[in-house]
Amino acid sequence: MTVTVGIDKIGLYVPQYYIEMTELAHARGVEPSKYTIGIGQDKMAVPPLDQDVVAMAANAAASILDEHDLLAIDQVIVGTESAFDYSKSVASYLHELLDLQPYCKAYEIKQACYGATAGLQSACDYVRLRPDRKILVVATDIARYGLGTPGEPTQGAGAVAMVVSESPRLLVLDNETSLFTDDVMDFWRPNYEAYPLVDGQFSNEQYIRFFSEVWKNYQEKTHCEFSDFEAICFHLPYTKMGMKAFKPFLEEMSEEERERFTARYQEASIYNRHVGNIYTGSLFLSFISLLENSSVLVAGDRIGFFSYGSGAVGEFFAGELVEGFENQLYIAEHKALLENRKMLTVEEYEEIFMEVVDS
Ligand code: CAA
Repeated sequence: MTVTVGIDKIGLYVPQYYIEMTELAHARGVEPSKYTIGIGQDKMAVPPLDQDVVAMAANAAASILDEHDLLAIDQVIVGTESAFDYSKSVASYLHELLDLQPYCKAYEIKQACYGATAGLQSACDYVRLRPDRKILVVATDIARYGLGTPGEPTQGAGAVAMVVSESPRLLVLDNETSLFTDDVMDFWRPNYEAYPLVDGQFSNEQYIRFFSEVWKNYQEKTHCEFSDFEAICFHLPYTKMGMKAFKPFLEEMSEEERERFTARYQEASIYNRHVGNIYTGSLFLSFISLLENSSVLVAGDRIGFFSYGSGAVGEFFAGELVEGFENQLYIAEHKALLENRKMLTVEEYEEIFMEVVDS
């Protein structure tokens, strides 16, 4: 008997503060349209001093877990590149905060923004062998480049939590995926640096190259075409990025198909546009955005996913929406989370930013 595994539930947390990108543009002496159109960001989430990656992860996970999950979860896997400890994992704090059963494994995965995808795939492999058990996978990050840097408009913060189970009620993930790894220095953060070192334009090029490589490899393995998918979700460091990689492929499509993928891409980037880069969680934030902002998705639709983690690893994987998937969404809660945030002035944001660095 074939065991189907995938995402049973998906939850989100973003901090309660944000700044408007037009305000940031004015403060930096930049045309606002560079940020809102050129980069494709409208708002940027700002975490307050009392919210670190553990707090955000716990909030995202607590919003979806019930008492059955707490007993069935065998592993907590956290993908992050903003952890504050070289040894102890964010997952071990999370295990305690969520009151998970003790016969459980808790660990963290690091490979830039790819970490949570590695966790998700590992979780699926485990559940395929033990279909009565579940795994909690959490992506949690604070993206920080520094005040006045080119990367500043692509900062953000937030966490996405996913319960992986057998017969998932949201998305069944395929076994087949395609991967590509190459040792490149596009974005990295050595131990002695407060902020990542980034070769911005080179990182864009690597992202585009990796998408092309994994798609080529995926096609060779599966003989799939883009027409087999209803939507493609991308890791979105900023909302323009996925489209930069997708554009050459869109240009080869019929007008109808191009319009369909472009519409789904817009829906899949609404939340990212209002939050910014949440590194490991950005791809999954895009998936939530698609699910909660599209009115055309139906059970059986196939969704493709492009995960990219600088340094660098890329993966293309795919899944199928399950009958009744819409009952697994938290649309009202997530919209309230985003809409009830408080706007900070640029000065207030800078003050918080510098306090974190000084502390
Ligand atoms: N109106 C409209 N558009 C404008 C504009 C204006 N007034 N002025 C400029 N633009 C456009 C530019 O034409 C450009 O568009 P294209 O990319 O389509 O050519 C866009 O705005 C950005 O302009 P620049 O390329 O000049 O911007 P920049 O050099 O200041 O910085 C960046 C852009 C390199 C992405 C920078 O924000 C950065 O370094 N970000 C962090 C790194 C990053 O996110 N890399 C992405 C790939 S790596 C990854 O995905 C992993 C990860 O999460 C970090």
